Amino acid sequence: MSRNSIPDLYEKYDAGEPLTMLTAYDAPIARQIDRGGVDMILVGDSAGDNHLGYDDTLPVTLEEALSNTGAVVRGTDEAFVIADLPFLTYGTSMAESVENAGRFLKEAGADAVKLETAPYGETTIEIVDRLTELGIPVQGHIGLTPQRKNEIGGAYVQGRDTDTSSTGEALVETAQRLEEAGAFSIVLETVSEGVAREISESVDVPTIGIGSGRYVDGQVLVLTDVLGLSPEPYSLSKQYADLDAEIRDAVEQYVEEVESGEFPTRDNAFDPVDED
Ligand code: KIV
Repeated sequence: MSRNSIPDLYEKYDAGEPLTMLTAYDAPIARQIDRGGVDMILVGDSAGDNHLGYDDTLPVTLEEALSNTGAVVRGTDEAFVIADLPFLTYGTSMAESVENAGRFLKEAGADAVKLETAPYGETTIEIVDRLTELGIPVQGHIGLTPQRKNEIGGAYVQGRDTDTSSTGEALVETAQRLEEAGAFSIVLETVSEGVAREISESVDVPTIGIGSGRYVDGQVLVLTDVLGLSPEPYSLSKQYADLDAEIRDAVEQYVEEVESGEFPTRDNAFDPVDED
């Protein structure tokens, strides 16, 4: 099988079939996700707190994101790979935004990039327009945009029209403008279900929800939440495995066996010494 393309994704979307996306940050896990049959892998800047040991996404550097993306591309054959542009690697100037986004395709082998857009965010909408004109496919990202966490003040549900939540109207309009700018798909993060539905009905590109309910065109989750490797479960997510416990059990067993002399055995030795 060859790697999914945007027309392949649109074939599913046009047929009304939900699209699937998961995050990955390294080759071995990306290989498993690819074999599991997801349509898209997002090399998210959620690597910050889920892979690189930072507190959040803000410290992730361009070089770290390029390295993660290259590893995911090398580990996969079929999934469409989207690289998330880290905080301030875009938006500072058009030239820098284009150059940095281009590196994900040219050097890391990504199929597309994703970037976050604030409600009515002129700067990023212009960047999406330029990138898509140049042949760099872009996935938009609206709703809760974690790179603006210091402005938003917390993980508030968006679309509720409060001090901490943009209006549904702003989100619908921003999604439409991203579509006009050429975005092939839009992530809706933590948007109230009714507004997510309204957005999905008002654009002709697939919306991919996380914590945005049922009436979107596809779903994305952060892999560490899915595998049970996060410090706490999130109600917007679903845990499908308990790798935290499995890994700890494996490590404890290894330590015990080495300390007790049970491992290694002669089967693990080269030219083993015969004992009388
Ligand atoms: O970085 C990430 O994992 C994301 C998803 C939450 C959509 O942006």
